[in-house]
Amino acid sequence: MKLAVVGGGSTYTPELVDGFARLRDTLPVEELVLIDPAAERLELVGGLARRIFAKQGHPGRIVTTDDVAAGVAGADAVLLQLRVGGQAARNQDETWPLECGCVGQETTGAGGLAKAMRTVPVVLDIAEQVRRTAPDAWIIDFTNPVGIVTRALLRAGHRAVGLCNVAIGFQRKFARLLDVAPEQVHLDHVGLNHLTWERGVRLGGPDGEDVLPRLLAEHGDAIAEDLHLPRRVIDRLGVVPSYYLRYYYAHDAVVRELGTKPSRAAEVAEMEKQLLRMYGDPALDEKPELLSRRGGAFYSEAAVALAASLLRPQSPSWRGDVQVVNTLNNGTLPFLPDDAVVEVPARVDGTGATPLPVPPLEPLFAGLVAAVTAYEDLALTAALHGGRDRVFAALLAHPLIGQYEYAEKLTDRLVAHNREHFAWA
Ligand code: G6P
Ligand code: MN
Repeated sequence: MKLAVVGGGSTYTPELVDGFARLRDTLPVEELVLIDPAAERLELVGGLARRIFAKQGHPGRIVTTDDVAAGVAGADAVLLQLRVGGQAARNQDETWPLECGCVGQETTGAGGLAKAMRTVPVVLDIAEQVRRTAPDAWIIDFTNPVGIVTRALLRAGHRAVGLCNVAIGFQRKFARLLDVAPEQVHLDHVGLNHLTWERGVRLGGPDGEDVLPRLLAEHGDAIAEDLHLPRRVIDRLGVVPSYYLRYYYAHDAVVRELGTKPSRAAEVAEMEKQLLRMYGDPALDEKPELLSRRGGAFYSEAAVALAASLLRPQSPSWRGDVQVVNTLNNGTLPFLPDDAVVEVPARVDGTGATPLPVPPLEPLFAGLVAAVTAYEDLALTAALHGGRDRVFAALLAHPLIGQYEYAEKLTDRLVAHNREHFAWA
């Protein structure tokens, strides 16, 4: 089996490689190609990746290259984990929206739109190269904003599934609190990427007993504290929102808080410097503890599970397994267009991801989901075709923005900070 990772020079890669090494019985990788334009980084990360494989006795070959078409050629799966413009661009996404009193975040609000607009054209170009040299490959997209990027890929007819670690993070956390194995925990996870709620926590299988009420009664404080939301808010909702809902439910408080501290991008850039220094040490042969301070915990587990189910030899007796992924709505949430991308539990097998039926979504959540889906549609149009009017429309439609004065100011800033990435500007 051949896997290619675009953005393979990311400091996250050792997390992924560690997962491939530990879970090699699930996913027998023979060749792993790390693709990245940043040669120096790629050498450091590639070196550590080889040492991780060697230490764990993994027989797979690790290749590094800056050539996308050659790197992905003949691959069974291509993982996308790139960041156009690096942490410097992210730092801007997290900063200029604050000047207008709006949240500065890499996937939510105006910053997320900027990231989508820089990223979608680059990802589509890479996907075309995959189509040419690896036409049967599955594309697993971890590149943010995952909802919009996956929608772009699917609309262009690619074999793509979007992946985020929020669900697996909750699964692991709830398993610890309940003192059961993670595989026992099935989430009634619903919404869009970075806009989800856990409406049920089932034991044993997707139809198992719902222990969410017990979980909230016994561990509500710990869960609320993790999300930086007051316990009473979680109790009132009766469900567990993802960390990203804080940008909605506590928008103004978050804006004030973000104004008083360095951006997450600045923090991450500092961590990355340290990580790369560590990766250059020939004695290091495992992922360092420092990496666990990044937000991508369990990313490797989720990626291995997804690739394994998409790629394993299919047999009539195996009907796939259930994983939370980003895939086409196709009526799952009937109030959204079929071609929207939703993040829900889906049955995954060699044909792709098919959402399980989802009980009707309460208005408390459905309104936001509908509004953000419409925003994502407009964001994708802006990313594909450019133009200030399209940027403005996406911003005006975003439920965190909504007012024309904000949308105008944010449009100016978004374009000014991203001119080098936009051919039309
Ligand atoms: C979580 C999200 C990812 C995001 C990451 C940011 O893992 O699911 O989509 O990229 O957090 O983590 P960072 O360490 O870069 O702030
Ligand atoms: Mn994510």
